Amino acid sequence: MARVALITGTSSGIGLDTAVHLAQAGFHTVATLRDPARARALQERARAAGVSLDIQPLDVASDASVSACVRGVLERHGRIDVLVNNAGAGFLGTLEQTSLEALRSVMEVNFFGVWRMTQAVFPVMREAKSGRIITVTSVGGLVGQPFNDAYCAAKFACEGFLESLAPVARTLGIHLSNIEPGPVNTEFVTHVKAKISGQPSPGDAHYQPLLERYMAGSAAVYQHAQTGEDIARIIVEAATVPEPHFRYATSDLVRQVAGRKYTDLTGDALVNMMGARLK
Ligand SMILES: NC(=O)c1ccc[n+]([C@@H]2O[C@H](COP(=O)([O-])OP(=O)(O)OC[C@H]3O[C@@H](n4cnc5c(N)ncnc54)[C@H](OP(=O)(O)O)[C@@H]3O)[C@@H](O)[C@H]2O)c1
Repeated sequence: MARVALITGTSSGIGLDTAVHLAQAGFHTVATLRDPARARALQERARAAGVSLDIQPLDVASDASVSACVRGVLERHGRIDVLVNNAGAGFLGTLEQTSLEALRSVMEVNFFGVWRMTQAVFPVMREAKSGRIITVTSVGGLVGQPFNDAYCAAKFACEGFLESLAPVARTLGIHLSNIEPGPVNTEFVTHVKAKISGQPSPGDAHYQPLLERYMAGSAAVYQHAQTGEDIARIIVEAATVPEPHFRYATSDLVRQVAGRKYTDLTGDALVNMMGARLK
């Protein structure tokens, strides 16, 4: 019986590429997206690759949507071997530019969405005494970055949650892996930029020039970004090797930046390095 993979957020980017790569690797792949009307790019890529996908609606921010989706997968396929928590969204703004409402919505998709999906699928894997839960966090789940206060808080929360769960899951034959990309060329930045306009704060006279310098530096970093396919190949590796790692830093850049955190436990080197991006 073919193994079944369930993946979130496949309308674009890493999720779209990963859905196709998982199907090419032989998984019955349930590719989910919030709005089925946005499935055309996914369908075209699957057709070009000669694979078929089970495309289903899923909003990771909704309890009802998550439970209906998981129930449907079990009815149609009878098992879930791999869950890929990929859905996520960025947000740019420092503390004073981020309302509690905005913070809640960032946490809802990036953290509660991961918790909700993992909690819905975990009992299925516990009963099967096997399974893999692969979560796309970020270098921003390891290292804080200016103007990413809410996004990094959500990705750090995922890292803390999953690092705590991993040893217990292992006793049940369930492997957890976190995928930690740096910059990846997807729709991500366009989606983030669409959200920063129109959020005035009293401190903007100070923050705006810093944000502009940060954004200019980010644009330079994105010149050397990985592709969605690079990340998809790493996710397929985590889904298929006999003993997957807990962490997959996806590039030398991520290893270098995250390495600073662990080689200087005062945190000063990292704050100085990030601070240099505001000058
Ligand atoms: N690109 C990067 O530089 C980068 C770096 C590190 C980590 N990441 C992480 O990689 C993951 C994938 O991002 P990407 O780069 O591929 O960006 P992307 O092209 O913007 O894709 C994000 C996906 O998440 C979906 N999504 C958002 N909210 C959702 C919700 N409530 N329920 C279900 N799906 C939802 C989006 O669907 P809609 O079409 O419905 O909005 C979209 O399919 C994210 O977790 C992101 O944080 C990205």
